[in-house]
Formats: sequence, C-alpha cells, structure tokens
Amino acid sequence: MKPKILITRAVFPEVVEKLSQHFDLESNQDDVVYGEAELIRRLQGKQGVFANPSDRISADLINSNPGLKAVCNMAVGYNNIDIAAATAAGVMATNTPDVLNETTADFAWALLMAAARRVTESEHYLRAGEWKKWSYDGFLGADVHGATLGIIGMGRIGQAIARRSLGFNMKVVYHNRSRLTPEQEAYANHAEYLGRDELLRTADHVILVLPYSAASHHTIGAAELELMKPSATLVNIARGGIVDDAALIAALKAGQIAAAGLDVFENEPALNPGFLALSNVVLTPHIGSASGSTRRAMAHCAADNLIAALSGQTPPNLLNPEVLKK
Ligand code: GLV
Repeated sequence: MKPKILITRAVFPEVVEKLSQHFDLESNQDDVVYGEAELIRRLQGKQGVFANPSDRISADLINSNPGLKAVCNMAVGYNNIDIAAATAAGVMATNTPDVLNETTADFAWALLMAAARRVTESEHYLRAGEWKKWSYDGFLGADVHGATLGIIGMGRIGQAIARRSLGFNMKVVYHNRSRLTPEQEAYANHAEYLGRDELLRTADHVILVLPYSAASHHTIGAAELELMKPSATLVNIARGGIVDDAALIAALKAGQIAAAGLDVFENEPALNPGFLALSNVVLTPHIGSASGSTRRAMAHCAADNLIAALSGQTPPNLLNPEVLKK
C-alpha cells in the first residue's frame, strides 16, 4: 500500500502527477486555504504533508497525528513549522534551499531599483493621466549605482544580492550572525562586516534577507529606522515580522527614510492598510521566488524530499537530522 499524503495547496499538475506515482494523495487543487483545525482533520491517517509557507505546522498539528513522518515545505524559509515539536515527535522537516537563490536575489534588486527610483509611484501617476509635462524635478529619487549597499542576513541569497552590486560599482557592508570567510566576502563583492547599528547608519540602501525567528522579530523597529539616512531605501524580501510594520509606516510617512520595497508583511496577506496610503513604498505579494522555472524547481525539490523521506532514505534537505537517531 502506498503511503498517504496531503498536498495542502494547489501546485503544478506535473508535481501532483509525480507524487501520485509514489503516494495515495489528497490534493487541494482547488487551493482552499485551510485553517489549523481543518489541516489537523485532513492530516489524520497521513504519513506526509507537502506544505507551503502559509500552512502553520504547529506542535498541536504534529502531535495530533502520531502517524506523521514528514513535513516537506515548498519554501526555503520554515518558520511556519515548529521544528522542535517535529523533532520531538520524530517527524522529518525539509525545505527547498539553493534552487531559489538567484531568482530571489534578482527580485531584491527589482524592489530596490523600483523603490529608490520611484518606478511604481511614477507609473501610477502616468496611468492616472496626470502626466501633462516633463519637469526637471519630477520624481527625483536616489542613485543606486556608486552607493553603499547594506545587507542584513548574508546567507546564500544575501551573497547573490551582493555579487550583483559589482556591476553597479557599489560598496557592500553586511551584518550576519557569523562573519563570512574571506573567500565568501570576496565573492560577495568584497563585502565588509559591520555591527547592525553601524550598518544602518552607513548604508544608502538596506536589504533584509535574514530568516525569521523569535530572535529576529522586529530586527527593524522605530529605533533602528531612526539610525538610517533620510535618503535611504529599505527592502524586505525575507519574512514579515522582521520589520515592525507600524514603525515603518510612521517612518515613511514622516520622511525619516525615503522609500521601502516590501515583498513580505506582518500578518500577510492581511497587511497593515497604512502601507496602501503611502506612495513611497513598493508593495508586492510575496513573489520573491516567483519565476516559472524557480517555482517549478522548488516544487520538485519539495516532492523529492517527500519521496525520499517516506521511502526510508534521508531527504536531501533535512532540517532536523537529529530525528534520524530516533
Ligand atoms: C519564500 O518565502 C521562501 O521561503 O521560499
């Protein structure tokens, strides 16, 4: 008998087909967003779950299904999974690292360029029929080339962002839990390690790429925004909750920083409506990794992890290897 799995949200049909060769599937191709109680109910009797970042894989969910063996997230971030509870229950958890590094780095640049050079704001003005004449001071923004780029969270995506800055003749400063090796710093456009506050004071543009955890909650709040330059841009492609959104709205309104580019929000998709009233922020619906080929690669990666986990192999992207000792 094939193991039973739940695919919590719609995914590429070819991936559903691939999984169906290995598993007895319950697949949510109607893409209903299940709440926690519904997820718990649907997981009964299943050994695996193909999950995505909007599914909260809580301790309650894990513990209410003793037959569960694997939770495979279609995302590099995994703050939606209670890893400690999974490990304690002997459940393997996996993510999809690496396949999205370059695509997500591209998108950080898209947000930086759009926010610093006021792309969406000026497009709205044009579409609204307000463009009557060219003017010398229309939509003046901040230069990206030649500026100092600050990156907080210098993992693989952060390094890919930094490497792109070479073509813009930028200086890169970074802050990370641990310092990179000299080789990694050289690869990342000779990035220079700084303390977080010094980085915020120094950088012309700041990109956040750190994972969300209790420790990174509100890494950027009112006090940190005060350290930034009034001409600075803040980009968040990491996770909602790393920025205190109410504090950022106040800072953007007051002109304490010039602009922001945000792909992630506290409580998304129900973002703080204060953002919608501001013109100096570019807002996108969590699409950092959303190129066709990368989302396909992520879906296949999550499927391969699930197939390995439920066929007695070690999944390639196991987050809690301690579980194998159980
Ligand atoms: C998307 O947000 C991811 O973590 O892959």
